[in-house]
Amino acid sequence: MNKYVALMALSTILSAMLSSCSLAEKPQMTNIDAQEGEAQIKIKQAKGHVKALGAGLKTRLQQAIRSGGLTAGVEECQLAAGPIADSLSKNGWSVGRTSLKVRNPDNAPDGWEREQLAHFSGLLEKNKLTSEPLKRPLDAYQYDDESGEFRYMMAIEQGQLCMACHGTNVAPAVKDVIAKHYPDDQATGFTVGDLRGAFTLTYQPE
Ligand code: HEC
Repeated sequence: MNKYVALMALSTILSAMLSSCSLAEKPQMTNIDAQEGEAQIKIKQAKGHVKALGAGLKTRLQQAIRSGGLTAGVEECQLAAGPIADSLSKNGWSVGRTSLKVRNPDNAPDGWEREQLAHFSGLLEKNKLTSEPLKRPLDAYQYDDESGEFRYMMAIEQGQLCMACHGTNVAPAVKDVIAKHYPDDQATGFTVGDLRGAFTLTYQPE
């Protein structure tokens, strides 16, 4: 083999190696980009649903409290929470709320939800001890690129408005009406800034 042929052979091997590398990597990169893009689209849609559910509930709750007081608020929340979540649960989406301490047992978390709730709660508790600003919203997602299933959660913090029905000092009349509808209620005893629960959404391709 003369020098020229040897050089040619070497360059053929090198270019074959290079092209096989790029062949091996390129589709994977594109795939990851596509998955990342798909997840970002779903996150955006999920946030839209969260906004709609949050705003819908708040409006109904405030109207009921204004016209009939807190006990009416409890009944309204009981009547409205399911239907508002159901109205958003279409086109493959399932939209709801959950918590580590639920009022409505239908909202109980599954394993993945429990993990995220524990994580959010840990972040909030840790943040109470430091003055560092916490990046909000506290959220988490999971995307299964094989089945196309996408899950999303966004933390719900206890605010002043929530104290009357989820706080440490719920009025006896309110307690009574809660107990009437939710005999196994666990959702009291929270203080402002605690993790009250989370919005939880699942998308399943139809
Ligand atoms: C007037 C009483 C009332 C007020 C005020 C209220 N809630 Fe609730 N909350 C309820 C009732 C009743 C339910 C159960 C609804 C259902 O059946 O799904 C509930 C359920 C929830 C749930 C779903 C998980 C679970 O425990 O079943 C979350 C999360 C929640 N409330 C957060 C809040 C937050 C945050 C605020 C303040 C912004 C608030 N609530 C204010 C009465 C109230």
